[in-house]
Amino acid sequence: MEVDYRRAVARVLEAVAPCVGAGKVADYIPELATVDPRQFGFAVATTDGQVHCAGDADTRFSMQSISKVFTLALVLYRDGETIWRRVGREPSGSPFNSLIQLELERGIPRNPYINPGAIVVTDQLLADGGDGFATLHRLLRTETGNPDLDVDDVVAASEAGAGHRNRALAHLMAGFGNMVNPVDDALEHYFRQCSVAITCRELAHAGLLLARHGIRADGTRLLARSDVRHLIALMMTCGTYDAAGEFAYRVGLPCKSGVGGGILAIVPDHCAVAAWGPGLDDHGNSVSATAALAAFADITGHSVF
Ligand code: DON
Repeated sequence: MEVDYRRAVARVLEAVAPCVGAGKVADYIPELATVDPRQFGFAVATTDGQVHCAGDADTRFSMQSISKVFTLALVLYRDGETIWRRVGREPSGSPFNSLIQLELERGIPRNPYINPGAIVVTDQLLADGGDGFATLHRLLRTETGNPDLDVDDVVAASEAGAGHRNRALAHLMAGFGNMVNPVDDALEHYFRQCSVAITCRELAHAGLLLARHGIRADGTRLLARSDVRHLIALMMTCGTYDAAGEFAYRVGLPCKSGVGGGILAIVPDHCAVAAWGPGLDDHGNSVSATAALAAFADITGHSVF
């Protein structure tokens, strides 16, 4: 399928205009509430080397839960099996920070892309490699092409200060014997990974690791093809929390969202797409980024279905 991506990106920008500024910025992390909701960025990086951007594609935003895909990638790279004794692979159908489900399911999170699942994955990365977030940081710097990519320390501190639910989730899991490191250590790494400040252009570049089935920016293989298949299957079923069904219907591509308003979508063999708008819907997914990805899928015909 030949797609004119330049034209497609321009049409997405037109289609999304009525939604820009819609939704409500995340305010349970106080620093995220200060972001101007009237921004919108979009970037497509293709496996054959094109990059097309629109709007605020070079403005930094908080990566938040999109980081969870890359942390899981590193854990699978090191040992593809152990982690599945600690976390499931089913959609949760519940909010991403639900405590009730975790209690009922005896400390085993439904999947690695909700908060407790991601905390377990970060805990595993820390246990496996010793330097946890630093490993992720190196990977993101290389794959985004930005050697200065960094954590926004103000957001990280804001998250840590307001992270009562994440602490509760981690302690509940520790109570069930599903934490290896001290809770505070794992959470520190978790808060830092969520607070990476990234642009749409950089995120689309990093997403190519998945669109190319595990091949890095320098052409070497990092991940096994099967690991990438698993990572993006989980994006499809669990990447947008309790709206994953609606995303499959509207967008039809594996997506991972974050409460900073970013969403990464993967079109295997073709491209990685990053969309960002700070205003969120009730599930925690960006209103404008969701609309943009739905328009992109309609315009290009890209879909896994
Ligand atoms: O832990 C939190 O609540 C945020 N740092 C990340 C939440 C997010 O982006 C959506 N959750 N999975």
